[in-house]
Amino acid sequence: MNRMNLRLSSVVLGAGVYAALAVGQVANAADIQMGKEKAKMCFSCHGENGQAILPTYPNLNGQSAQYLEIALKAYKNGSRNDLMMAPMAKVLSDQDIANISAYFGSLK
Ligand code: HEC
Repeated sequence: MNRMNLRLSSVVLGAGVYAALAVGQVANAADIQMGKEKAKMCFSCHGENGQAILPTYPNLNGQSAQYLEIALKAYKNGSRNDLMMAPMAKVLSDQDIANISAYFGSLK
């Protein structure tokens, strides 16, 4: 490999590592706006402002994002079961759960 090729391949490798890191960051940071978009499927019971529409449904406003995330993951993996919530949580990706939790968790 000549010097030019060596330099080119290290640039390509560097860009690849950088891109992987950037994607990793995007995948980890919770996005409240995306969470609100996805949470539209929850509003019919939990309300857009996190205030439940019936007294038999829990309010999600004022709850911490961490708690909401744990609860949703528990419904998703079956360690917590509920006829209404299990099918809701099962269609959510971990990223959706982080985003939705950040959204409801931001509501006072
Ligand atoms: C059909 C009505 C309905 C819909 C739609 C619904 N939920 Fe629920 N949710 C409930 C009920 C009822 C409970 C209480 C279940 C239980 O006792 O575990 C609940 C519980 C929860 C809890 C646990 C609250 C706590 O205090 O532990 C979270 C978090 C939650 N829902 C989030 C969501 C999210 C996010 C969505 C949308 C993806 C959603 N729900 C859609 C009815 C609904």
